[in-house]
Formats: sequence, structure tokens, C-alpha cells
Amino acid sequence: MKIIVEKDYEKMSSKAASLISEAIQKKPDLILGLATGSTPIGTYEELIRMHKEEGLDFSKVTTFNLDEYYGLSPEDDQSYRYFMENTLFKHINIEKENTYVPDGLAKDPNAYGKEYDEKIQKQGGIDIQILGIGRNGHIAFNEPDDELILSTHLTGLTKDTIDANSRFFDSIDKVPTKAITMGLGTIMKAKKIILLANGKNKTEIMGELLKQDKVTTNLPASLLLLHPDVTVIMDEEAAELY
Ligand code: GLP
Repeated sequence: MKIIVEKDYEKMSSKAASLISEAIQKKPDLILGLATGSTPIGTYEELIRMHKEEGLDFSKVTTFNLDEYYGLSPEDDQSYRYFMENTLFKHINIEKENTYVPDGLAKDPNAYGKEYDEKIQKQGGIDIQILGIGRNGHIAFNEPDDELILSTHLTGLTKDTIDANSRFFDSIDKVPTKAITMGLGTIMKAKKIILLANGKNKTEIMGELLKQDKVTTNLPASLLLLHPDVTVIMDEEAAELY
């Protein structure tokens, strides 16, 4: 793992955005894996700035998002599709048909998950996958468990994740309890992974992750230690126990 510690959230975000922008310049038809949550918002803002001010061109880029709440339609303002449209897609020149977010209304979510994975592989696989991390060590919605599923699948959310994500909803009972998420197999197939973490509520989990000398499904992010090309970018707060 390559570890980069930046002074603050802004610097962490510009570092991540500059890695993505360099990759797009080298390969205009980059396949980019995207994450939601508050962590990557600054990175998306910087990419938008680069598009508007420096002409960074997304016209040939394809994106695949990690996950979507199960039961929410793309128009629901709490859905990850809605988040991506408003936070990134509508501000850049990406083709709508080149943006993939799992369908929260898929009737047979596990069969749908396999199709989603096939679509990724047919496009040549993800070149760069952006990841955040849950404070319990989850990545995408792969929660700590005895086993982790490899392919994109339907999963239940832990109480801790529901709690953490309730800040985006009117009340905790509005938070969906299930999601469709890329599995660890899907994520680990990405050629390059950029894991972002900022702020005090990530200090403990990043300390634990970066001290690991084993992998465990009880800390899903520890599987990333097996990946040959992971760059971790943290701000100083998240890196305090590193
Ligand atoms: C959510 C998402 C993850 C994200 C994580 C951290 O549950 N499914 O992809 O990385 O929580 O979110 P945040 O960046 O808001 O801390």
C-alpha cells in the first residue's frame, strides 16, 4: 500500500483528483469506479473545477458506482444515483449512458449483480476504483462478517452503518436496511484502488487497518492489503494513529 498523508480534506481531495485527471489524460476512455458518502465530495468538486477551468474531458469516460440502497428509485433524492447526478455527473461532460449505478429496484438483485459484474468486465475492467471506508471498516456496503461475498449482491446493513448514514435522512427509520453492493471480488479486480479517509471519525479505523498484519473478513478493508496497487490518501486527522 502506498500511503499519502495530506494536511487537510482539501489537499486530500486535490491529490485524489489529480491522480484521476492524470489517468484520464493518459487514457481518455478510462473506466472509473466511484463511491458515494461525504468523503469523495471534495474530489468530485475538484474534478468539476478541472473540467470547467482546464478542460478535463469526460466524454469517453465510463463510471461504475460501488453501491445503491435497495428499494430506492433513481429519482429518490436519497438514492446514490441521485447523489451522483447532482454531485458530479450533471456538472461534467460525461455521457449519461456511460454512467452505471446499481439499480436499487432490481427484481432479482443477485442475478442483476452478476450482470453488473459482467458489464464491468466486458468494458475491460475498472482502471481506478475510488473507495471510502466505513468507521467499522466496511468498503462499499461489504460489512464485517464471517464471510464476504465476491460478486455484486444484495446485503443487509449493520446498525452502525444505518446509524452513521442516518445523518443524510430525516430520521433513522427512513434509512434503507439493505443495499446492492459490489462484492470484494469485484472491487479487488480493479487495476488500481484509491482509498480516501478524512476526519476524526476515521482515525481509529485507519489506525487499526494500517497496523494489520493479517486479513480478516471482520475488517473488510483489510482485504485491500492483498491488492497490488492501493494508494491510501488521508488527511492528518484520519492519520493520527498511523
Ligand atoms: C457508506 C458507503 C461507502 C462509504 C462509507 C463512508 O455506507 N456505502 O461507500 O465509503 O459509507 O461514508 P462517508 O464517506 O460518508 O464517511
